Amino acid sequence: MKKLFAVLGDPIGHSMSPIMHNDLFSYYQIDAHYLPFQVKGENLRDAVKGLKAIGVAGFNVTVPHKSEIIPLLDEVDELAASIGAVNTVVNEGGKLIGYNTDGPGFLKGLHEHVPSAAGQKILVIGAGGAARAIYFTLARENPLAIDIANRTLETALKLIGDCPYTNFSRALSLAEANQKLAEYDLIIQTTTIGMSPKIADQPLDLGNLSHESMVCDIIYNPLETQFLREASIKGAKIQNGIDMFVYQGALAFERWTGIFPDVERMRENVLQQLGGKIC
Ligand code: ATR
Repeated sequence: MKKLFAVLGDPIGHSMSPIMHNDLFSYYQIDAHYLPFQVKGENLRDAVKGLKAIGVAGFNVTVPHKSEIIPLLDEVDELAASIGAVNTVVNEGGKLIGYNTDGPGFLKGLHEHVPSAAGQKILVIGAGGAARAIYFTLARENPLAIDIANRTLETALKLIGDCPYTNFSRALSLAEANQKLAEYDLIIQTTTIGMSPKIADQPLDLGNLSHESMVCDIIYNPLETQFLREASIKGAKIQNGIDMFVYQGALAFERWTGIFPDVERMRENVLQQLGGKIC
């Protein structure tokens, strides 16, 4: 029988996951189909119950349901529970188990450029859901330090306090981060600032950036944010959000099928989809 996979979100119309996963199912000759479902918050419980009742094989969860899904699942793995967000659910023998592949997806993408986060001095800009996933995952890699710069300092302090993996971290204002920028080996921009359509915005200017730093932005629309453009002009190595998106999908696909898919194929597929959509 054909297996059902899905993604639940609101809105969901622009999700690139269905095309990406359906292409992989046909490429690996797996009899499965992946469908997008727009689900409002008040209907999430019923949607999950319904998917379980009809024997869904697995599903993704996206904005705004990544936290609210947790109490609706049978189990949640340790990393996802500590982050407080699930983006991937696997039906394991009738039980719905939640995972987070966003943080590990970022890390795998990072490893294409930086072999290890161990010993690195890292700055994360932003303290929202995406920052939590990235910070908690990186914290397990023994970096020298991971500081967080955020508009609201309390949110950054809470994120640091919530992390179960011991680390040396400071919470900084955006202005402080701006001043200290040259100290960091790796700078990761996780806010929505600079995302289409407000593409001229950036969270802080990069006047003090060292050309030896690596700068990542998790935004992929536009492919090069103003922040990355400035970093690149300053001579820094840059990485956009495509890799994190593709690798979070690859890790979800692996959880569902046991196959770690062809990431290059996924990247090309996503870039093709973005081609018609960017800005
Ligand atoms: P996500 O789940 O995608 O990470 P989020 O949880 O809404 O999104 O988090 C958004 C992040 O972007 C937060 O760190 C937010 O800062 P605050 O904690 O101060 O709200 C940051 N952010 C969003 N818009 C911003 C702006 N205009 N200026 C500075 N920071 C902004």
